[in-house]
Order: sequence, then C-alpha cells, then structure tokens
Amino acid sequence: MSRPAAEARARARTFLAQTLSAEGNVLMLEHATRDEVVRRLASAGRAAPTKGSVAPGGAAAVEVTNARIAEAPDLEALAQLVASCSRCPLHAARKNAVFGEGAAEARVVCVGEAPGAREDETGRPFVGRAGRLLDRLLMSIGLPRTSVYICNVLKSRPPQNRDPLPEEVAACAPYLVRQLALIQPDVIVAFGAFAARTLLETKSALGRLRGRVHRYSGYPVIVTYHPAALLRNPGWIRPTWEDLQMVRRMLDGADESEARLG
Ligand code: URA
Repeated sequence: MSRPAAEARARARTFLAQTLSAEGNVLMLEHATRDEVVRRLASAGRAAPTKGSVAPGGAAAVEVTNARIAEAPDLEALAQLVASCSRCPLHAARKNAVFGEGAAEARVVCVGEAPGAREDETGRPFVGRAGRLLDRLLMSIGLPRTSVYICNVLKSRPPQNRDPLPEEVAACAPYLVRQLALIQPDVIVAFGAFAARTLLETKSALGRLRGRVHRYSGYPVIVTYHPAALLRNPGWIRPTWEDLQMVRRMLDGADESEARLG
C-alpha cells in the first residue's frame, strides 16, 4: 500500500474509533483518548456513555445509585463502585478515585476532606506531606498507619484543591456512610472542619467542636485539626496531639468523660 493510502486508512481508523454515539447524537472527537472523550462529554453536560466506556481509573462506568452503595456487601465491592462512579463532575478530571485504605476491622477510622494532587496520582489517601505528618501523629499514640483505616469525605480531587461543593458532598457522602457502617470503628477521628461538619451535620467552627466526644450514628467522633493546617500552623500540633490522646484513652477503655479529662 502506498504511503498516502496507509495514512488515509490510519486516519479513517482513528476517526471511526473516536466516533461515539451519545443520547442519539454522534460526536466526532479527533485526537482524543477515551478518557478525554468521557471528560468532554461530561463537561458538555451530556451523560457519559455507559456501555463499553471506561471511567478514569480504568473501571467500566455504570450508574451508581444510593441503593447500590448502601447494599455493597464489603469494602472491596464498595471500592469498585467508587472506581466506576460518575455521580458528580469531579470524576471527569480525576486520574484516580481515592477510595480509602486500611484494615477492614480497624478500631480507628480517620476521615479527611478530599484527595490532593499526590493522592489523585496514586489513588491512595493521605500520601503527600500532610499524610506523612498524619502518619507521625498516629504513631505518637501508638497507632501505625496500617492499624487504622484512612479515607476522605470526597473520593475525587476537587480542581486546585478547592473546597468541596455541597452537591459533591451529597453525591459522595453515601460512600463514607457505607464505609463506616462496614468497618464499625470504636472511634472516628475527623481531621479538619470539613470532615467534622459533614459527619456531625453542623456548621460550628472547628474550635468549638474540639475537646469532647461527639456521636455519628452511634460511633464516637473526635474532632481535630487537619494535618495540612498543621503544616501551616505548627503551633496547633500540640493541641492536635492532645485531641489524639483522647482517642488513645478511648481505645484503652476510658468512657467519654474520662477520655475528655485525661
Ligand atoms: N488532604 C485530605 O483531606 N485528604 C487527603 O487524602 C490528602 C490531603
């Protein structure tokens, strides 16, 4: 075959491979990878194609309803739903969903806000600078990272690490609810105002929430500063350590008032 003919055939193959049918419309997207196609469809306000399409992170995109989330039998099944989730627009730009990690029978669940750049790249929670500080804080109360479960309210990174939007939280929170129901921890630690406000359904300032034991669905919740805030304000490390001492005392069998008093 002549070179121009071969090039024409290659162009035709690319053209056909990138022609998608969505809601009855035919879109022709040249020079786009499959993930870019899904992204463009989402940003154009169209439903991303479900059959045969691939969500960022590699899993087939399916509709994930609240009922499916609430019925996920274990963390693995729930993680698969997250990997294929397109319930909010954040899925379109993510490199990886960040489900959470740790022991399924962990006594402590640490809840942060949302993945950052490093977490988005790796698909793992709290692995950047803030994560390394979190590891050290946990070790200071005798909890190696591998002994706890770590996750976030949002499973996809917001652009430029902006605050999560209410609709993003509404779309993603059912995953956290199910994670906590499956793990049934002895203590939940909310790192930062965002996690605390989401779990406790309050608008109170973080300073007003620290220093006592709250309840989420019957589980004790301790609220403390976010590790990223500690990197900016090292003076808050000591009070954070004191909050974590409450966690330690609860794990050691103290009741709520004993845990609070120290
Ligand atoms: N900040 C968070 O809240 N979560 C992470 O996973 C990383 C940084």
